[in-house]
Amino acid sequence: MNEENPQSEYSQQIAREKWEPAEGMRPLPWLNTILLGAMLMWGAFYITISPTGVESSYGDRRTLSTLGAPNSSATAAAKQVDGKQIYIGNCAACHQATGLGLAGVFPPLVNSEWVVESPVVLTNILLHGIQGQIKVKGMSYQGVMPAWNSLSDAEIAAVMSYIRSDWGNKAAPITEDDVKKQRELTKARTEPYKNEEEIKSGT
Ligand code: HEC
Repeated sequence: MNEENPQSEYSQQIAREKWEPAEGMRPLPWLNTILLGAMLMWGAFYITISPTGVESSYGDRRTLSTLGAPNSSATAAAKQVDGKQIYIGNCAACHQATGLGLAGVFPPLVNSEWVVESPVVLTNILLHGIQGQIKVKGMSYQGVMPAWNSLSDAEIAAVMSYIRSDWGNKAAPITEDDVKKQRELTKARTEPYKNEEEIKSGT
């Protein structure tokens, strides 16, 4: 070892080091290649045989009725609009998600004669609103219910069918066509109903 030359000792230290591992090229085992190829071919085959453009087949062949869409006898258009969503978005603030309303302020929809009896009267209430006195399940209310005529026929049909069939209510759904007809019949009305007689008059 040359003690006068520290550099020599240093290079000897370097010489003792192992080589840095280097990245090389190794071919993929042929078995893997075959497996990959087979999977690709199966994938392409599966995509080819799978039906496409079929609206009700969500990949696993479930249909709308399997998913339990409510009001299956309502029109197709009304079925596409989700009545519960419309209810939560527009009505639940006052009538509550439970449909029970707020005692003395917002009347209940659960078991309400206005909800489960005449479809025509219910449609009119939604189309024109109420501003005055109304009795619901024996209790008097004196509030303001805005008109919902900015909602489409299908949306009004869906929300009515929803409130007629949830919370134990069991009335038949109302179709988009029914709403359309009623909107046309009562188009002369520009103000909300002021009392029960007006609501029941059907105009
Ligand atoms: C701003 C609060 C408010 C909203 C939002 C509202 N309502 Fe009402 N609704 C009332 C009030 C208040 C009355 C009672 C009117 C009165 O006292 O003159 C009423 C009455 C009713 C009635 C008749 C009485 C009954 O309880 O059966 C129905 C049916 C009804 N609403 C359905 C709806 C539906 C469906 C929606 C959503 C599209 C809705 N309401 C949104 C406040 C509201």
